Amino acid sequence: VNCLNSVQRTFRRSAGTERGAVQTEGTLGEDSGEKDGPKSFYELMADRQEQAEKSVLISCQSRTSEKKFLNFLSKHGDIKKHFFYESYGVYAVVEFACRDNVVSLLESAAIPSVSHESMVPFKSRLLSLRNHSSGESPSLPCQPQTTVPINELIQRLSREESVDEQISSLTEAYQLREENSRLRFLVCSLLKDIAAAYFPECTIKPFGSSVNGFGKLGCDLDMFLDLDTISGKNLKTPKSGLSLEYQMKRTNSERHVTQSILSVIGECVDHFGPGCVGVQKILNARCPLVRFAHQPSGFQCDLTANNRVAMKSTELLYLYGELDPRVRSLVFTIRCWARTHGITSSIPGAWISNFSLTVMVLFFLQKRSPPIIPTLDCLRDLAGPADESVIEGNDCTFVTDFSKILLQSNTDTLEQLLTDFFEFYATFPFSRMSLNIRKGKEQNKPEVAPLHIQNPFETSLNVSKNVNSSQLDRFVALCQESAWLLQQSETRTPTGVGGKHTTKPWGLATLLLPSQVAGVKGRKKRKPHHASERIKSLLESLKSKNDGKKNSDS
Ligand code: CTP
Ligand code: MG
Repeated sequence: VNCLNSVQRTFRRSAGTERGAVQTEGTLGEDSGEKDGPKSFYELMADRQEQAEKSVLISCQSRTSEKKFLNFLSKHGDIKKHFFYESYGVYAVVEFACRDNVVSLLESAAIPSVSHESMVPFKSRLLSLRNHSSGESPSLPCQPQTTVPINELIQRLSREESVDEQISSLTEAYQLREENSRLRFLVCSLLKDIAAAYFPECTIKPFGSSVNGFGKLGCDLDMFLDLDTISGKNLKTPKSGLSLEYQMKRTNSERHVTQSILSVIGECVDHFGPGCVGVQKILNARCPLVRFAHQPSGFQCDLTANNRVAMKSTELLYLYGELDPRVRSLVFTIRCWARTHGITSSIPGAWISNFSLTVMVLFFLQKRSPPIIPTLDCLRDLAGPADESVIEGNDCTFVTDFSKILLQSNTDTLEQLLTDFFEFYATFPFSRMSLNIRKGKEQNKPEVAPLHIQNPFETSLNVSKNVNSSQLDRFVALCQESAWLLQQSETRTPTGVGGKHTTKPWGLATLLLPSQVAGVKGRKKRKPHHASERIKSLLESLKSKNDGKKNSDS
């Protein structure tokens, strides 16, 4: 097994061990120090879900006294954690010591009196604080829930002294904060209370970038309605004696069951869910979903059911991000770069998705010499019996115990990785080859598609099936331009050191400025001949630089 040979470096806890290392959700805030070693994905999920179950969301008036507010609430029990944030008004997330405290709090709440409207009599843990006393207090201290605007980020990066520091600084600015992560689990928990009207034993879990360690403040909230405890897949029936089983309605298609469950829950969210607006049922998609906005949190939500493979890919991404701090830093940087140049978009379409981009970064890191992260096949070989997982015939087994993973010694700097990432994809043979993180190798494309990235678990699927050739061309052209820019001495020289006011962008900040590549920005105004000439000359200059580098190396 490739990754077991020539082992020189064992896994070390990534967060907080190096300057600029990414704070991970498993090691955030007061949670750090509770445990040695990184939290497994399951521990992280279980802890956050438990906190969410004991939490309430309260709309407050900004000029409420924090002290009075906490005194008032602590009549119902000890408050373990609280914070405020702003989203069309100020909200508080309050976690109590136990679930009974929440019950007591809810019992004390009144039904609002309305004169000209009618109310849907659905009670939830989303409340409003009424303040009848007079007197003004200072504004409540709000935690930011959005990222810095791009221009501010460019200024911030320009003041750093190295590209490595720029990358770390970008990561710190963009990653989810502990509070935002808690809020995401709380929204899932509030929705679970609605779904529980039909399925009392269900849970709703976040997946995707909310929990995979690559989420940016403001990213959507992907949720998965988990009914596995009810569908009884894991229950054994006794072989002798009497036993009972539930009578259940049967249909001939699992997809149909998923669609009807989501349809009913979608209706329920639409009609009864406090704060849930703009509900759309998208049930004919490959993965049926209900999409809506949760106003009090400001999250765009996608609720799916029967989506356990996506949960596994979330866990895999989390694991890769935990293995080496460079993984998250590079992913955040590439995602930010891609978003700035319109390579990715919040609107669904023929663009490259963040998920595809992340897999592209992982693939690139597997191809380093020595590799920075192991292949999925390698993680599969390290798995123990408890890690076995086969979902709808797909092998989703991989090791969950991080300590079993031994990494090779690779000392590449972030700057080097960033430059080489752009060069790697500027010259990748996309027309013939498919990216495969299971094998850590490119393979002949099994089907025609401009960009082919094998889905790590559903291996017959292409993660980037939606991408058209013009979007891929833009990506490649921008990789070429960015690789070229990073090799120019004026880009590579810090300008901000000692600067007083605005600083001239340099390094990574230069890459986030509007692109110079003709045809990349305004596709309609594109002049193909001119653009290809420019790209050709960029490539030429890249090649000659590389040759120079190789010659000087040898
Ligand atoms: N997913 C997948 N195959 C795809 C698209 C998505 O398996 N073709 C899974 C991945 O686990 C992904 C999750 O669904 O992480 C959520 O998808 P999406 O919201 O598109 O991506 P995120 O990773 O959440 O990134 P973003 O911040 O853009 O939402
Ligand atoms: Mg998402």
